[in-house]
Amino acid sequence: MSLSSEIVELPGAWRDEVVGLHQPAPLFDGRIAPYINLDNAATTPALQSVVRAVEEFLPWYASVHRGSGFKSRMATAIYDEARQIVGEFFGAGPERVVVFGKNATEALNKLAARFPLPAGSVVLTTMMEHHSNMLPWRSRAEVGYIDLEPDGTLSLADLEAKLARHAGRVKVVTVTGASNVTGFAPPIHKIAAMAHAAGAAIVVDAAQLAPHRAISMRPLSDPEHIDFLVASAHKMYAPYGTGVLVGPREPFLEGEPDLVGGGTVKLVTLEEAVWLDPPEKEEAGSPNAIGVVAFAAAIKALSAWGLDTLAEHERELTTYALRRLREVPGLRFFGSGDPDRTSDRLGVISFNLAGYHHGHVAAVLGHEAGIGVRNGCFCAHPYLLRLLEVRAEDAERLRSEIVHGVRARIPGSVRISFGFYNIKADVDAAVDALQTIASGQARGTYRQIEETGEFVLEGKALDDLPRFGFGQG
Ligand SMILES: Cc1ncc(COP(=O)(O)O)c(C=O)c1O
Repeated sequence: MSLSSEIVELPGAWRDEVVGLHQPAPLFDGRIAPYINLDNAATTPALQSVVRAVEEFLPWYASVHRGSGFKSRMATAIYDEARQIVGEFFGAGPERVVVFGKNATEALNKLAARFPLPAGSVVLTTMMEHHSNMLPWRSRAEVGYIDLEPDGTLSLADLEAKLARHAGRVKVVTVTGASNVTGFAPPIHKIAAMAHAAGAAIVVDAAQLAPHRAISMRPLSDPEHIDFLVASAHKMYAPYGTGVLVGPREPFLEGEPDLVGGGTVKLVTLEEAVWLDPPEKEEAGSPNAIGVVAFAAAIKALSAWGLDTLAEHERELTTYALRRLREVPGLRFFGSGDPDRTSDRLGVISFNLAGYHHGHVAAVLGHEAGIGVRNGCFCAHPYLLRLLEVRAEDAERLRSEIVHGVRARIPGSVRISFGFYNIKADVDAAVDALQTIASGQARGTYRQIEETGEFVLEGKALDDLPRFGFGQG
């Protein structure tokens, strides 16, 4: 059986649902190529059904939770229904509330600010986290970092050891659902059981996992349940601007919300504020109703297609990609490059090419093949430094350079990351381009900017982009 026939083919109509799929991208030599987006871990394109939902909503656009007019009532009902759709998608059940905000980062900051952490509390996060699931906790408690196995996966033995070392003090274990660097997906339900047995709550940063795998938070009575979950709409085929925090009502009943103002109160006098119940209490100011509608529409589309079907396609595409990438001389994977290992990872693949700066590779892919990837440290510096085996003295020298405004030697890797709509031809195009680079045949001349570390094509202005019309053509 040929490799191509092994891959679960998604109906073409699903690909047609992706807005801007074949957007033309000018190449370095003036040719135009259809853009190939292999940067879905950063953000995903919107769906046509999301556009349709926004268009359907706009005539009803009016104040949410604040007006008695018909459009206001309609906008409020739609907003509340969207909340229900998002909650159901994650299996929130009646015991949890769904709080909307700007993105996953804001949701994690809110949770860190609102979760009761008495003096002496310990929060365990991991060495593989995105900065958004590290930094918010640092000012709130003593933070421990669960270590890695040599292959870059999370060490459950170290989690066990740290839970024992800080027995009785660990209030939160907060872990990524999947790494945005290696795609590794820790066993969240197993970790949940370990956290609960130690008397801690578990938080899952599902920013990467949610668009790729079905997630059920499960009832609070289940020892393996997820207490809190955060996700970002812009990684789930809806636009920027909406994130979600799902979790039990209790922590939000106590105290003041982290942001106060309109929309959070039942009553304000000059002396006091009587807070609304969560989730409203936690959504200060006028809500991003369009963003929330878009998020719910994307979720409806993903659910209708079936997360398991999408996951199967992605697994097989990942296997194909890892096999093909091995053909590129000098390519080194970070995390697993094993094509047959897809059960504990997503289609997020990080690598470097021997002899080439990660920024150089990304620039050639963009300018010469019309392929969008990401390079750098992916907002996960501690994880990257570990994966790249950067020595302590080198890390210190780099730190000094960065502090003094030089980013040219920042270590990093190149990352390709799949969306549900990527196909073998996208992988083939990337592998061809990487082969060209590896054999020294990239055609453009690139110059690195010392301060930013960015690689620019010689002779091309950075701002040489087509005009955007802002609705005026
Ligand atoms: C694992 C993970 N967590 C959190 C974030 C932050 O998401 P946002 O930028 O939407 O706040 C990202 C973004 O890349 C991520 O990959």
